Amino acid sequence: MRNILVTGGIGYIGSHTTIELLEKDYNVVILDNLSNSDIRIKDRIEILSGKKIKFYEGDILDNSILNKIFEGENIDTVIHFAAYKSVGDSVKMPLEYYNNNINGTVNLLRAMKRYDVKNIIFSSSATVYGEAKVMPVSEKTPLMTPTNPYGKTKSMMEEILTDVYKSDNSWNVVLLRYFNPVGAHKSGLIGEMPNGIPNNLMPYISKVAAGELEYISVFGDDYKTIDGTGVRDYIHVVDLASGHVKALNKIEEKCGLKIYNLGTGNGYSVLQVIKAFEKAANKKINYKIVERRSGDIGTCYADPKLAKEELGWEAKYEIDKMCEDFWRWQCTGLKSLIEDEVLV
Ligand code: NAD
Ligand code: UD1
Repeated sequence: MRNILVTGGIGYIGSHTTIELLEKDYNVVILDNLSNSDIRIKDRIEILSGKKIKFYEGDILDNSILNKIFEGENIDTVIHFAAYKSVGDSVKMPLEYYNNNINGTVNLLRAMKRYDVKNIIFSSSATVYGEAKVMPVSEKTPLMTPTNPYGKTKSMMEEILTDVYKSDNSWNVVLLRYFNPVGAHKSGLIGEMPNGIPNNLMPYISKVAAGELEYISVFGDDYKTIDGTGVRDYIHVVDLASGHVKALNKIEEKCGLKIYNLGTGNGYSVLQVIKAFEKAANKKINYKIVERRSGDIGTCYADPKLAKEELGWEAKYEIDKMCEDFWRWQCTGLKSLIEDEVLV
């Protein structure tokens, strides 16, 4: 199985995964509507990998483009990243989120069924565990309904994919539950492109370090954690990307329905991340402790054992490297995109 359709492949996780796939000699076809990405990332993927990708600008909601791809590209597996991902926006625009994420996925799955392509890797999230009572969370931890529409779309899509598998066991479905993806490619050429003021921790810290924002608000210091601030399992995006290649190997074994956590198994507090970023950027990062953010949980980190046992995958990179790579991207690749400089 060598011909992979990557939906959302110009985005943050999709672009890093595409590089890993190209390095392993898979043929990659990308479908992306560029709603949250920049076409110049495609050139950078090609430069970094030294290979060409086939790119379709279009939408997973559009049957004509899906038909064209499945008719013309001999796809055998889909890695499905395309979705909207902002928790805050999903609360303001639930219908857009349900339409893009749920209807988009159903449309894609129906097209796959039409063309008898029954292998899919799906981007899920640790959000499906909600506020788990016991840490670390394993794949056996009971699921809870997420509190926001974005999280709900992830839970619903897991259920839809599970029902598809139950209806026809010749499907191979791998649900990957990501913890907190951060970092960037070591070249600094590709990385996360937050839309406006970031909501997530590391992109926000990075903008403070760059002098674009004055300080970071630390949401609460009264959690039961090492220093009272929230603890999460940050995972380098390149580790996450390599997890997809391992999941693809699993699909090649005709694995049926499988679910894996992709995390490091280590938790870091907000203040620990700020400290690690200060070291990476060699700058002081101003912060203020403020109220807890509504909907937040104190601690969340993964039990990554199952992925190690069954996929032979484990995260390699530590928090210092995550911060260094993120900072390099902030100072070079992202800056050049914003300033429209030709870097490569
Ligand atoms: P991203 O926004 O950088 O990438 C998503 C890509 O999909 C973008 O390039 C966007 O243009 C494209 N897209 C969106 N809707 C589309 C549509 N209808 N048709 C075609 N293309 C479309 O996001 P990311 O961080 O790379 O996330 C990838 C996946 O991983 C998403 O499903 C996201 O929900 C999931 N995820 C992300 C995180 C995270 O923190 N980044 C955590 C858990 C899960
Ligand atoms: C958030 C989403 C989650 C989504 C994930 C994607 C919420 C409630 N959850 O997870 O659904 O899957 O992003 O990566 O939005 N923090 C600050 N100040 C900030 C930003 C964050 O103190 O300005 C703290 C948070 O309270 C938390 C930690 O940093 O303790 C990480 O936050 P964030 O990066 O937003 O990720 P999550 O909340 O884990």
